[in-house]
Amino acid sequence: MAIILSQQLKICYDERLMPTQKEYWDKKIRDWSYASYKKIGQTSLIEKIASFFRAVETRKEVTLKLIGPKAKNKTIVELGCGMGEFAMGLVMRYKPKKVIVYDISEIAIKSVKKDAKKLEILSKMEFYTADVTTIDKFPQFDLVVGLGFIEYLNPQQMEKLFAIIGDKPFLFSYFEKKLSFYNLLHKIYISMQKCPGAYKYSKKEIRAFIPQKLKLYFVKKNGLQFITNSIKIR
Ligand SMILES: C[S@@+](CC[C@H](N)C(=O)[O-])C[C@H]1O[C@@H](n2cnc3c(N)ncnc32)[C@H](O)[C@@H]1O
Repeated sequence: MAIILSQQLKICYDERLMPTQKEYWDKKIRDWSYASYKKIGQTSLIEKIASFFRAVETRKEVTLKLIGPKAKNKTIVELGCGMGEFAMGLVMRYKPKKVIVYDISEIAIKSVKKDAKKLEILSKMEFYTADVTTIDKFPQFDLVVGLGFIEYLNPQQMEKLFAIIGDKPFLFSYFEKKLSFYNLLHKIYISMQKCPGAYKYSKKEIRAFIPQKLKLYFVKKNGLQFITNSIKIR
């Protein structure tokens, strides 16, 4: 009885110490982005080390190549845009009609707005500070994209997201749930950083989130995995 009680108390105590997803990303995004995209500026040692194991710049470039040529005059929604490296790259290089970005972190969205202003592309973008999991409808769009985003959604949130997207085209980067050295390191990193929620899904689990009858493709490029429902993106 005493053991159960002490375990319950420990869980409550740990939950109290756990930041919310917004608090976590408001604190983390600058450091994460500077280290991951090798920008000039101060970064923490943990992010410097973690960035050795990530291929964030490659992921951005691969995604730009995958969807950029199809984005001309189209409206693209990016979920979990971070500091906007992908979204601004898309506007600058591929001339979409508009890129609408969402992020839970106010710090991230403020930074994207500031940089977009400097690049004189404000009129080509729309910005929302929002927890995407609480949204029931997106503005009109032609394609929705998310890089390093779906791994922060729990199963219920994944199901809701794909129900909202419906049969509109999507492309998300994807880390498969499997035994690997990278996944083990990532688990250690996530718990050290006290990330409030990070999830990995098997292909079967991902498939189950997609509304029935819709196609789902697993795309591999430069050693990175993506999921899409659009045969044109492959
Ligand atoms: C790993 S970062 C990736 C940033 C960017 N996509 C990139 O690749 O450079 C994950 C981003 O997702 C955002 N995010 C996490 N959960 C979110 C949610 N529920 N709603 C909106 N944004 C979220 C975080 O704030 C963060 O900016």
